[in-house]
Amino acid sequence: MPEQADPMAGIPVDPAGAGPSQHTDVDRVLVDEHQLRERIAQIAARIDADYAGKDLLLVGVLKGAFVLMSDLLRALESKVPVDFMAVSSYGSATRSSGVVRILKDLDADIEDRHVLVVEDIVDSGLTLDYLLRNLRSRGPASVEVMALLSKPARHKIEVPVRYVGFEVPDLFVIGYGLDFDERYRGLPYIGTLRSELIPEH
Ligand code: PRP
Repeated sequence: MPEQADPMAGIPVDPAGAGPSQHTDVDRVLVDEHQLRERIAQIAARIDADYAGKDLLLVGVLKGAFVLMSDLLRALESKVPVDFMAVSSYGSATRSSGVVRILKDLDADIEDRHVLVVEDIVDSGLTLDYLLRNLRSRGPASVEVMALLSKPARHKIEVPVRYVGFEVPDLFVIGYGLDFDERYRGLPYIGTLRSELIPEH
């Protein structure tokens, strides 16, 4: 019997995109609003089922995850508490180094609780690797990850991500929480930045 594909693995995204964008700085839309809504609803339903009857805490990683957190939270049936961490990775604007500084720690004590870390994107995986090791040292009942996007071509380290929205190609992606130079986080879709605006071009 062939192994069933995991429905919570990322849906591969066509590099040609879902269509053109109205925004002049955006080359094309990779994941549109409808696709985002549908996928987040699917993942929320799975999270509701997986954590039924458990003491779950959602931990959003600022800043990128704040848009996703807001939509995920509202898509969940269960009334889940939320907390946030803010981290900054040392490195250039486009590449993280794996050395992570905690700018804002959790308010909550996570000992014996089930933690679901919510990230916008797993790029090299170094930020998440650090965060997971840090959170596990606090004695939680479990720690899992939901990431809206994963960029497999850039992974330097394999981190276990239980719920992945989409697998994106190695392109500079912005919108839905993701920034370039702190801008574009408010775009309601995932798009690609026009190539002439990309640093090191
Ligand atoms: C992004 C993203 C992840 C991290 C992923 O955050 O939100 O936390 O980079 O990169 P990695 O897998 O290569 O470690 P960023 O540092 O851009 O900060 P932001 O969320 O405030 O935009």
